[in-house]
Amino acid sequence: MNRYLKIDPWRIIEESFNPDNNRVSESLFSLGNGRMGQRGNFEEHYSGDTLQGTYVAGVYYPDKTKVGWWKVGYPEYFAKVINAPNWIGLDIELNGKPLDLASCKILGFNRILNMKEGYLERNFRVEIYGAGIIEAEVRRFISIADTEAGAIRYSLIPVNFSGTLAVTAYLDGDVRNEDANYNEKFWDEAGRQIKDSRAILVSKTRKLDFQVATGMELKIFRNGIETQLNPIPESRKKYVACKAEIQFNHDDQITIYKYAAVLSSLNHPSDRLMDNAHQVLDRIVTRSFDRLMADQTAAWYEKWEKSDIVISGDDAAQQGIRFNIFQLNQTYSGEDERLNIGPKGFTGEKYGGSTYWDTEAFCLPFYLCSADQKVARSLVVYRYKHLPKAIENAKKLGFTNGAALYPMVTMNGEECHNEWEITFEEIHRNGAIAYAIYNYVRHTDDKKYLADYGLEVLIAISRFWSQRTTWSEPKNQFVILGVTGPNEYENNVNNNWYTNRFAIWTLRYTIESMDIVRDNWPEKYNVLLKKLKFRASETERWERIIQQMYLPYDEKSGLFMQQEGYMDKEQKLVSELDPNERPLNQKWSWDRILRSCFIKQADVIQGMYFFEDEFDDEILAKHFNFYESRTVHESSLSACIHSVMASRIGEQQKAYELYLRTARLDLDDYNDEADQGCHITSMAGTWLSIVEGFGGKRIKNGKLCLNPAIPDKWRSYSFKIRFRGSSLEINVTRDEVRIINRSEKTAEIVLYGKEYSIKGNQEMIRDTVSEPSSLFKG
Ligand code: BGC
Repeated sequence: MNRYLKIDPWRIIEESFNPDNNRVSESLFSLGNGRMGQRGNFEEHYSGDTLQGTYVAGVYYPDKTKVGWWKVGYPEYFAKVINAPNWIGLDIELNGKPLDLASCKILGFNRILNMKEGYLERNFRVEIYGAGIIEAEVRRFISIADTEAGAIRYSLIPVNFSGTLAVTAYLDGDVRNEDANYNEKFWDEAGRQIKDSRAILVSKTRKLDFQVATGMELKIFRNGIETQLNPIPESRKKYVACKAEIQFNHDDQITIYKYAAVLSSLNHPSDRLMDNAHQVLDRIVTRSFDRLMADQTAAWYEKWEKSDIVISGDDAAQQGIRFNIFQLNQTYSGEDERLNIGPKGFTGEKYGGSTYWDTEAFCLPFYLCSADQKVARSLVVYRYKHLPKAIENAKKLGFTNGAALYPMVTMNGEECHNEWEITFEEIHRNGAIAYAIYNYVRHTDDKKYLADYGLEVLIAISRFWSQRTTWSEPKNQFVILGVTGPNEYENNVNNNWYTNRFAIWTLRYTIESMDIVRDNWPEKYNVLLKKLKFRASETERWERIIQQMYLPYDEKSGLFMQQEGYMDKEQKLVSELDPNERPLNQKWSWDRILRSCFIKQADVIQGMYFFEDEFDDEILAKHFNFYESRTVHESSLSACIHSVMASRIGEQQKAYELYLRTARLDLDDYNDEADQGCHITSMAGTWLSIVEGFGGKRIKNGKLCLNPAIPDKWRSYSFKIRFRGSSLEINVTRDEVRIINRSEKTAEIVLYGKEYSIKGNQEMIRDTVSEPSSLFKG
């Protein structure tokens, strides 16, 4: 753990500069708007350690996979949303001496992320050796109101000297990824223009030919008056710059504006990119920094109106959850069905910005509850669009008849991963994708989605489960062999309970969905079944699998087993581990990890989280206690689910402890890896721990159910839920629950097991009930 940031409810504040923390800060201070992102790098040259990171959503490189022993079926490439041309660069020289925070004397420094209004600020006072002291204030944002725009305002005051300031505003396309498999560069130049204080660089990626136009315009003011610039152009391959010089007296205030436009061939024809970048620049320069900033504030206000969680009595928790919500909103906006959520968002290179099961299993509920319906819909449609590739993917592995296996890691629907040995058998991802359809439909009541898109995906996934299941003569049951469950510390196991359970559930849900579509949209139903050449014998086999699937169970303990043979392992508890041996993935050999009983992340408990209605309180508690004591939570996606389940069984203290492990995971750098980027998808898990955990939010029989409890340390908390056309704000104190319906539509809810109807713009108040687990019944 490394807590060096100041606690504040709306801001992330770094109060002094420690180069050792710089990469971590660069991750934490990242900005994004769903379409592009930027790590919290300095604008001016910094010769110290840094990870420069600029990302454009959907623009990736198929980096050739690196594996020791190539086997048939391996993915050809590992897709990466690559480090894109740098638009923030602004080098500063005073009297010929460069401003470089690594080589001057720092007299004061603050880096602040303002989450309420969506901007990054830096204030510093430094002595530049050989020049003098300057004070600077820098503000930067990436607009969520105008999503191809970014802007920087860089103000400085030379305190004790006069002379010449040289500003070099540049665009640099000669960038690389630190995680490139073969140390290659991914970009070529496709064009460049420079005129006066405006420049545009068009870059294209190797292999796939994505094009990105990065444009800039420079303006400089002295004491509030715009100065006439006669910039010297500098232009070379993959680089354009405008260098301007102005004279200053001490105490003059010099303000530099750099406006930037970032456009990609995903949204513009490649041959129009240059012209369209000019248009974006014309628009944003005319609008000017202050008005762009006002638009940004207004747009963020709207986001917070829909998604804020307010906690009183615990500022660290408040900052933690706001940071998570801020990053989730920065990462995905739902405006483009081709985009998705990388586990690190736009904050670093790890996981390559690709899509994982994380989206469906962890992130979807946040967007369902905290944004317009179309946002979550875009996430499910994304997988519908990838269905042909998922079918192709299954075909490559030997499946037939339109069976689909969605990739564990993907950018365009194709499987792509370096760690293939571990992930390729994680077929459980197919379950999460089916569950997301169920989650979307039950939350929105948009059943027509099933007829238009969902059922086709469900049938294809069910066909996969049906073929992946084999009949075991000795067991006289169906089995699923050779898989990896969510717990990646077990590979190639037989009958992973979670996976088998998910296969049963998916088959059943597909049959139910077929009935819904047949009864409501018979024509669509017939057309679809004809298109898929669906035979009645398919559902017959599905029914048999549902009835006769083997689920590993240990009679003696009365527990479902994570997989066959789990009890053969030496049974030890996490509490018996020497803390010096943690994390196991860094201290133990892979062999030792695989043969130990220790669990990386929620597996059986993950299944009980999804299917909790099928188990009574006693079974849930028994399994929770057994598996929690063996789980090391070495995936950031683990503690959150255990926290939700601890709340579910009424273990409030445990729920809170587990919640703390996720809430400030990156802010306090618990795992000593925030330098690689923030855990965006785990942030959605933290949201789950509050809303589904403490708040007890569920959907049952088409109704929104709530069973709020409050952690001891908090005075109150509130969260927001959009549900089937109504917008609810739920405020919880130790004594009462107050629900305000902030929409026109009447909301039907179930609070502590009792039904209520709250008319539009009305509120209701009820006493808090303190035994949550018993209230989940019914
Ligand atoms: C987890 C996976 C997850 C991936 C990306 C891994 O550490 O085990 O479940 O999909 O990280 O977040």
